[in-house]
Amino acid sequence: MWTYFADWLQFGVRWLHVITAIAWIGSSFYFIALDLGLRKPHGAPLVGVGGEAWQVHGGGFYHIQKYMVAPPHMPEDLTWFKWESYATWLSGFALLFLVYYLGAELYLIDPAKADLPAWGATLIGLLGLGLGWIVYDAICKSPLKNNDSALLGVLFVYVVAASFVFSQVFSGRGAMLHTGAMIATIMTANVAMLIIPNQKIVVADLKAGRTPDPRLGAVAKQRSLHNNYLTLPVVFLMLSNHYPLAFATEWNWAIAGLVLLIGAVVRHFFNTMHKTGQQLWWCWAVAGVLFAAVITLSGAPGWRAAAGSGPTAAETSLDFPADPQVALARSSHFAEAESIVQSRCSMCHARQPLWPGIGHAPKAILLETGRDIVLNASLIERQAVRSHAMPPGNITGLEPAERLALARWIESGDGTWRR
Ligand code: HEC
Repeated sequence: MWTYFADWLQFGVRWLHVITAIAWIGSSFYFIALDLGLRKPHGAPLVGVGGEAWQVHGGGFYHIQKYMVAPPHMPEDLTWFKWESYATWLSGFALLFLVYYLGAELYLIDPAKADLPAWGATLIGLLGLGLGWIVYDAICKSPLKNNDSALLGVLFVYVVAASFVFSQVFSGRGAMLHTGAMIATIMTANVAMLIIPNQKIVVADLKAGRTPDPRLGAVAKQRSLHNNYLTLPVVFLMLSNHYPLAFATEWNWAIAGLVLLIGAVVRHFFNTMHKTGQQLWWCWAVAGVLFAAVITLSGAPGWRAAAGSGPTAAETSLDFPADPQVALARSSHFAEAESIVQSRCSMCHARQPLWPGIGHAPKAILLETGRDIVLNASLIERQAVRSHAMPPGNITGLEPAERLALARWIESGDGTWRR
């Protein structure tokens, strides 16, 4: 019963999280484009208005005017944009908790990297999010604050380093997700701790007839710029855990770094277009090259293999040694694969799973009978041969030699006639 409820709870929270994230990113994209697209007002503008825009949407015309510091009179009804951000973080944190902390054994812990107890992994995750913000905030308040480009460079190195640390203690998916969650925490904290409080001080100053400190606005604008550049990578990182090629590699932290660059260059295209109308097509070429690098990296052998620790290159290679046995044993490939899958996978992927806490086959993937196994050959290849996403955290101890045997079976095409 609990597993059914837990599944629905996860789905419900995920639904909420995606919707709040759409609202946050949507309003943020809207305001960035609006702000960059403001034009000098025509005719005699109202006092304090420095830019305006005309827009058409949903059957009406909108005339938006921006008061550069503040309107002469503070309106009673002022709409604040903050709950989009807070609700995204809260629902995201709830989802992180449900999936990765309550299910730490399956999703977060990789005993080959660090054999942590569930509470220990949870603690490291929470510390990572908290420290992630504290260190970021300290970097932003250092003398680097006066140089936007240098600051962005240092922050890039910082996020990649954090991702590397996560990748050394967590499963691949756990590491990618925590990199994303750390960035998302920074973004929401920027809103909650700086952007909104600074704006509140400005409003209070104006109401009291004082001149607001322009530095308050400048700091908020700098943090907004960071949020702007982080939006696209954070979405990639949140989705990455559904794609083992992205997370189940020793290079996942480097992939995270490349994706940060892709996000920045794509945002640069749109920012420039909204500001000047100019379309910098080279941005897309750079993004394409970087994405090709991501794809290449996801299939590259890890440095552990190269350094001689961990599985050897031969163990992970899909090019089989010229083994006379291979040809002779062709018909036994399937039998071998079948018994491996049945002993390493079917405790979870069964009609009635035996694994405690698993109420029904995850993702409805059944790996129980010979037919199930043949039907899912390409999925098995993706999850257990090309990547090591399954079994989760190698919890059932699938040996490198067994992965190789699975690869041999898939290569042989044995059993495929039954499809
Ligand atoms: C301890 C339980 C467990 C074992 C053992 C296990 N899996 Fe899984 N498997 C899961 C869970 C949980 C998921 C869902 C992952 C997710 O939510 O993305 C899953 C998902 C999958 C998927 C679907 C992935 C997707 O998102 O499309 C495949 C395919 C798969 N497993 C194959 C295997 C293979 C092959 C083995 C054996 C080598 C195996 N699993 C062993 C728990 C297990």
